[in-house]
Amino acid sequence: MIELNGIYKYFDNKYQRTFVLRDVELKINEGDFISVMGPSGAGKSTLLNIIGMLDEPNEGEYLFLGKPVHKIKEKERVEYHRNYVGFIFQAFHLIDEMTVYENIETPLIYKGVKLKERQAMVANLLDRFNIVAKKDLFPEQLSGGQQQLVGIARAIVGKPKLLLADEPTGNLHTDQGREIMKLLNELNREGITIIQVTHNEEFAKMGQRIVNIKDGILKELCTTEA
Ligand SMILES: Nc1ncnc2c1ncn2[C@@H]1O[C@H](COP(=O)(O)OP(=O)(O)OP(=O)(O)O)[C@@H](O)[C@H]1O
Ligand SMILES: [Mg+2]
Repeated sequence: MIELNGIYKYFDNKYQRTFVLRDVELKINEGDFISVMGPSGAGKSTLLNIIGMLDEPNEGEYLFLGKPVHKIKEKERVEYHRNYVGFIFQAFHLIDEMTVYENIETPLIYKGVKLKERQAMVANLLDRFNIVAKKDLFPEQLSGGQQQLVGIARAIVGKPKLLLADEPTGNLHTDQGREIMKLLNELNREGITIIQVTHNEEFAKMGQRIVNIKDGILKELCTTEA
């Protein structure tokens, strides 16, 4: 599904070039659940953003479903991102001025889904995540765990093939974190491919593969029997 070959990301200033990713090679099959670990500043979020087509590498090849993402135009890349990728974040990134319902609905509006269909899709997820009663509340009126549920609902409402999670449990208590991980596992078993960044060893092991990034260099650590 995903193939990264010789990916480099760097920033130049007047005097020097700072490498964030160096010669990253990674193959990901449809249905995989991969955990990315590594110290702060190692390049984990940068890698996720490149895979999610929110950022571009300076060098290298990126194939997504056989399509050379490094060659396609910005507009088509945005379309790809919209149609195939869902993102969840450590700090939830919900829109404060919108209700739970509206937050989940937003990506469907961008995708041009009709009102009736949108209503059905959002209702379905509210129901599944047990947050029907919260639909007219604003993010600040929810607990952290509930906000992340909304974040996940918003990420998957458009039925993406790939779910990218950048430290999804980083702002949560352990119990809330476990709930979120349980949900990610369930979604993965239903077929969605997941790449998560995590600092938590227990949660990392819930993936089938763990990769480590240090100073922009990626190494496969292990394949777990998940
Ligand atoms: N515009 C930029 N100019 C220069 N360096 C940058 C720029 N954007 C990011 N970086 C650098 O890229 C490196 C990797 O950042 P990244 O956010 O990918 O790290 P991370 O592994 O996700 O860290 P954390 O665990 O703290 O989230 C950092 O050292 C950062 O300073
Ligand atoms: Mg990061």
